[in-house]
Amino acid sequence: MAKIVGVSGSLRRGSYNSALLRTAAELMPAGSELRIETIEGIPLYNGDVETAEGIPQRASELKKAIAGSDGLLLATPEYNNSIPGVFKNAVDWLSRPPADIKSVFGGKPVAIMGASPGGFGTILSQNAWLSVLRTLGTNPWFGGRLMVSRAASVFDESGKMTDESIRKQLQQFLSGFVAYCSRGQ
Ligand SMILES: Cc1cc2nc3c(=O)[nH]c(=O)nc-3n(C[C@H](O)[C@H](O)[C@H](O)COP(=O)(O)O)c2cc1C
Repeated sequence: MAKIVGVSGSLRRGSYNSALLRTAAELMPAGSELRIETIEGIPLYNGDVETAEGIPQRASELKKAIAGSDGLLLATPEYNNSIPGVFKNAVDWLSRPPADIKSVFGGKPVAIMGASPGGFGTILSQNAWLSVLRTLGTNPWFGGRLMVSRAASVFDESGKMTDESIRKQLQQFLSGFVAYCSRGQ
């Protein structure tokens, strides 16, 4: 059983990226599961807080979930052609202390997908993640890409994916990523 942890980089209730992740959970291939985790509750990184209080509870829980998973699926929005600050901030906390990076991220299969109301479907944000993933020593999956553009016409108001062709693309994407995560199992 491949256990994948999924994280959305948006805190918005009506987030397209969170909706994309929820749809992914429905479409996971047989013999795999997607556990959806949240970055909600992770404060802004502050080295003084880290020194005085250590790692915030939500960040510690998320580190543990990722460390125990077979793969990590990021659903990233794009802000100003890059990674949204709240998402990067969360991953910055997850990378503390540096001694834990190897057990949390080292060699971890990671896939990136994203949704945007615009026409480019988070392509630049996905690119921006690559240097972070390299720095953390992950093992990114490059076997497929999923950039959901014009998201307002892909999801209905309740966040349900109504576009059948994107659903098929997502299913294929997940099947490729899970196969990658299951190698050697
Ligand atoms: C500060 C800010 C910057 C944005 N910049 C971009 C951008 O560069 N490219 C893009 O496609 N969408 C951009 N958007 C629109 C987001 O894609 C849109 O708000 C999207 O719904 C965010 O993802 P979510 O639905 O998961 O919250 C931006 C939104 C904000 C708030």
